[in-house]
Amino acid sequence: MQKYGVNELRRMFLEFFESKGHLAMKSFSLVPHNDKSLLLINSGMAPLKPYFTGQEIPPCKRVTTCQKCIRTGDIENVGKTARHGTFFEMLGNFSFGDYFKKESIAWTWEFLTEVVGLDPDRLYPSVYLEDDEAWEIWNKDIGIPAERIFRFGKEDNFWEHGSGPCGPCSEVYYDRGEAYGCGKPDCTVGCDCDRYMEIWNNVFTQFDNDGNNNYTELEQKNIDTGMGLERLACIVQDVDSMFDVDTIKELREHVSRLADAEYGKEYDTDVSIRVITDHIRSVTFMISDGIMPSNEGRGYVLRRLLRRACRHGRLLAIQGKFLTKL
Ligand code: SER
Repeated sequence: MQKYGVNELRRMFLEFFESKGHLAMKSFSLVPHNDKSLLLINSGMAPLKPYFTGQEIPPCKRVTTCQKCIRTGDIENVGKTARHGTFFEMLGNFSFGDYFKKESIAWTWEFLTEVVGLDPDRLYPSVYLEDDEAWEIWNKDIGIPAERIFRFGKEDNFWEHGSGPCGPCSEVYYDRGEAYGCGKPDCTVGCDCDRYMEIWNNVFTQFDNDGNNNYTELEQKNIDTGMGLERLACIVQDVDSMFDVDTIKELREHVSRLADAEYGKEYDTDVSIRVITDHIRSVTFMISDGIMPSNEGRGYVLRRLLRRACRHGRLLAIQGKFLTKL
């Protein structure tokens, strides 16, 4: 498999969907606009909510973006594991009452297997328990054998985040091989270990959640897909974690140089290097989108990230102001 860089993968994705009639839009700000349900933009679909509900008319019924996102729900795990991070870029293609499951699934497959060149035998789709339509598309149109298509319940295959548009989803998992597995006899798609990595989520946005789990059917059927760019890059570059992909590794190495500490030798040092590498990405994008440190709301999230990054700098015995150098 060719080892594309993060910047190449981003371009390949946007160009692929442009070739399928999508308008490539720039990433929206991390600061939500007219959406009190979110402190920070956390997915590609979040800034597009009014287009899904029909409240606003989109510039095109097919849109593709690479959206900067922040999720801090797992902040305590950042650094401790190789996979947690607060900042990531989400690749997505969106249909506002235009194409639906059939096209979206076919393009997911085409992009992963033909454009990126992932081995089809390592890919496993999952569908929502009751979604026979998506199951049939994977099985009949794409040709995935029945035993390779997994059906999961609401926890895994129903996407919603705060109030707004949501729906059942179909995900694609990539088998990273036994070396990444937990070794348990029943380890398979859906296992918590690192072997089967979820890479792309196709949400069939059919409902609107009022924020109190009251669902109403949307007038138009939409598509909202999301694929973590850094995660895709891990697979394509065959590296263990997002801290090892080309662009992020550069930053990680810069932290190592500032700290005069070697990465990959000692657990606590690695944790601190990873925390700083991750947090400086969030902090930089938050500040460039106009957020300032404060005691509440998103300003507090920024302050917390800054403090954590500084503290880990002190743990690495870096002297003086150093975040600005990153
Ligand atoms: N909204 C879905 C997600 O964030 C797909 O884009 O996973």
